Amino acid sequence: MEDAQRRYGDMFTLRIANEGTWVFISHPHAVKQVFTGDPRLLHAGEANIVLLPVLGGHSVLLLDDDAHMAHRKLMLPPFHGERMRGYEQTMGEVAAREIERWPAGEPLAAWPTMQTITLEVIMRTVFGVQESGRLERLGDVLRNLLAFAARPARMAFLAVFGPRRVAELGLVRSVVEPADELIYEEIRARRDAPDLAERDDVLSLLLQARHDDGTPMSDLELRDELMTLLVAGHETSATALAWALDALTHHPHTLARLREEVDSGDETYLDAVIKETLRLRPVIALVLRRLVEPMEIGGRTLPTGVNVAPCVYLLHRRADVYDDPRAFRPERFLNKPPGTYTWIPFGGGVRRCLGASFAQFEMKVVLRELVSRLDVGAARPEPERRVRRAIVFAPARGGEIVVKGSNRASARAARSAPPRPSARSALR
Ligand code: HEM
Repeated sequence: MEDAQRRYGDMFTLRIANEGTWVFISHPHAVKQVFTGDPRLLHAGEANIVLLPVLGGHSVLLLDDDAHMAHRKLMLPPFHGERMRGYEQTMGEVAAREIERWPAGEPLAAWPTMQTITLEVIMRTVFGVQESGRLERLGDVLRNLLAFAARPARMAFLAVFGPRRVAELGLVRSVVEPADELIYEEIRARRDAPDLAERDDVLSLLLQARHDDGTPMSDLELRDELMTLLVAGHETSATALAWALDALTHHPHTLARLREEVDSGDETYLDAVIKETLRLRPVIALVLRRLVEPMEIGGRTLPTGVNVAPCVYLLHRRADVYDDPRAFRPERFLNKPPGTYTWIPFGGGVRRCLGASFAQFEMKVVLRELVSRLDVGAARPEPERRVRRAIVFAPARGGEIVVKGSNRASARAARSAPPRPSARSALR
């Protein structure tokens, strides 16, 4: 991407077998044109069709036009920023339990633990499963499904057959069916739950939501949306957390400042660390919109059928937007909120990530638990290279770190006492 940008500038075209033509854009004006353009002419659902065999045809990620807006309207309220506070305790407990299992003094990859945390958080807060036996069974089939989809060979297989044929022929049935069985079981049991109205998990809220004509979501719609939330929300967040650890352990001064501010009860810097991680190490490198009609974008008329790709990665590294763009400097976001069309790790417009608040809140809770409990450092001097894992950009060694020691006294104090910066710092 960087080579092509150096050679051809802010806009370049890639022609990919079976995928058609992709036009990369990375100028903020062009990105704004796409995110504010008429969604009836810029189809994201059609462009994401590769996910059809796993997500199913009712997924908000794969729908366009009125059907997309109808589903998005039902799914937005459960993901409203304010609601996230209700999930804080679950997120914190799961993170603390997993992090405390880390052995000290030897290199370990953070990613598998982050995956365990984000998967359990989704199962508990989105699916609403709490009982340990059910969590284990659901976790097993979902991990199996996600591992299947993450292998590069599977992507090649999708490219050869095409997603519609793969779905029609049931080529992924062996891994999707066991997951479906448990998900449908959960949906049926929840429909009849006597405490449905008091529950705050996303499935329970979706069961009570109504389409404009007053009808509830069908089991098939609910299954496809649960699968979408799982696939869209778990590997992305785990990978972003692994990148945050890679960046922090390679910037000990930043890590020290973060620990100090977290201990003092101020989360402004933590927020900036998360924004900077998502800028410099975006998990999703680009988003896609398929043109339904010819459209003028970035000063050129692009033909019908082209996939326009606002490129998160290139936009986030523009020197005319960010000073010293390759440096990890959370301070840049301290007094300046990120721009709608210059900071786009969650895409934008009517397709902006539904889980953006959820993901940032979860990252905050997990990192807070981590820095207040453990002292961590880099396993090797150089930061990690990127590799592609299905559709995400992940750290090649899984975010390797070394636990140097425990910081438990500070964590206990953080939970039990009101913020008192001087007393807390003294505990470390
Ligand atoms: C750091 C973590 C995450 C990142 C980087 C991320 C990124 C993205 C991106 C780039 C898109 C496409 C936006 C576009 O086309 O303009 C998207 C869509 C979506 N994401 Fe996320 N996401 C994350 C976490 C989550 C979580 C936790 C959930 C839910 C639990 C979630 C649910 C969704 C859904 C449902 C969509 C489809 C929205 C639509 O088409 O209307 N994501 N996400």
